[in-house]
Amino acid sequence: MSAPLAWRLPDPPAPSVVGTHDVLAGMPFLRPIGTHLDKPCIMQDIAQCAEYSQAQGGRRRWVGGDTSRLRARAGLAHRLAAARKRTGLRLIGLHEQRGERRMTIKVVDFFSGCGGTSAGLRAAGMDIILGLDTDADAADTFAANFPEADFIRHDIRTLETEALAPYLLPHRGQPVLFSGCAPCQPFSQQNRRRKTVDERVALLLQFGRFVERYRPEFVFVENVPPFRREGAMADELPPFVAFLQLLRGRGYRVDHRVVDARDYGVPQWRKRLVLVASLGSLSPFPSPTHGPDMSVGGYATVWEWIGDLPPIAAGETHPSVPNHRAAGLSPLNLRRIGATPAGGGRLDWPAELRLPCHLKGYTGHTDVYGRMHKDQPARGLTTRCISLSNGRFGHPTQDRAISVREAACLQTFPRDFVFRGGLDSVARQIGNAVPPLLAERIGACFVADSGDDHPDGAC
Ligand SMILES: C[S@@+](CC[C@H](N)C(=O)[O-])C[C@H]1O[C@@H](n2cnc3c(N)ncnc32)[C@H](O)[C@@H]1O
Repeated sequence: MSAPLAWRLPDPPAPSVVGTHDVLAGMPFLRPIGTHLDKPCIMQDIAQCAEYSQAQGGRRRWVGGDTSRLRARAGLAHRLAAARKRTGLRLIGLHEQRGERRMTIKVVDFFSGCGGTSAGLRAAGMDIILGLDTDADAADTFAANFPEADFIRHDIRTLETEALAPYLLPHRGQPVLFSGCAPCQPFSQQNRRRKTVDERVALLLQFGRFVERYRPEFVFVENVPPFRREGAMADELPPFVAFLQLLRGRGYRVDHRVVDARDYGVPQWRKRLVLVASLGSLSPFPSPTHGPDMSVGGYATVWEWIGDLPPIAAGETHPSVPNHRAAGLSPLNLRRIGATPAGGGRLDWPAELRLPCHLKGYTGHTDVYGRMHKDQPARGLTTRCISLSNGRFGHPTQDRAISVREAACLQTFPRDFVFRGGLDSVARQIGNAVPPLLAERIGACFVADSGDDHPDGAC
């Protein structure tokens, strides 16, 4: 792990709250509350903190250290007792909590959307402190699922970098990850109206302003594969290349590659460009876990992730499963989906059901109006993933498109993740998201690089 962040932040006013916390696997953990020192102190372990406190003349004061890297967890109680004896300090303001997860890397999620990236990074053991996006519904969804985090609803292009300082200041000295999964529509192959130059392309460089300013320990970017080369005016570097230069020029180790989410257990073909960068060590990309040659014997399937959800009809909302709501279908489209076998599509329909534009032997767009195959991964979910006419989004066994809850499951959102907004808005949030499971797998490597252990031992 590299030296603590050298943020160009003003010194915090004294006295400042300096305690950080630790979670002991399977044990109560100690969290100092209301502790103050004359100077900020973030220490590796709690015994060091006690000594520091004493050296500062801080008898009767106690500060907590970031003990997350303390390997000998079982020995902490013993070390605490020894430190108390050695320093004569009295422990004050300690309280116990059980079951809270150890979270060390602090995440600022730029272009957070509903929080797919954040959900995955949180599952990897990180602490989400801030989301940023312009979309009101995504902001509501984010707030509902990350009550521990702050949110800035603002256009990144007009946001001063200093606006982040108050959010980062309390975490000074701790590893921070900036996630910048900028909008992918300008590059997406599904976007047929793509313009040669779209000002959204440059949003990555807007994100770069914040990376330059704060130099977070870690950077994570996900986008569609063409992102690597597109979007430049004739005499400019593609933004991705310019961003790489920015990172390398600021001392980052960088790696980027195209990964397929299904190789990591996501029940979906979803190829994405992933960039990881670190000021310290940088683990190799995580090895695939799923596929025919893996011990699990194949890819995760649609049915494994949605097969247990209760049936609903087209246009229906389930009364108790949150967001289990399917778009309505016209009588003609109900006949069409009824005539579509599992894994099949419009080519299986009798002539009277075909679309006029497909009548003269047109063989393209075979996925539209298609039905998913229950024993295979789904096709890549888009922002219209609950619309039959926009892709292979038909339910494998029921005559309707998948519900928003099913779409969320196929994106590997946890079942208790709730979405706010209307049907189309929620579909957009889900289709836009980084699959949390993919973000978790990548996040586990950052956690390993921070000197911490992934809770499940992955990476
Ligand atoms: C690909 S989505 C991000 C998905 C998110 N990372 C996730 O995993 O759920 C891109 C997001 O960028 C947001 N966005 C677009 N333009 C923006 C801007 N100028 N400033 C801030 N956010 C913007 C969109 O509202 C959208 O939610």
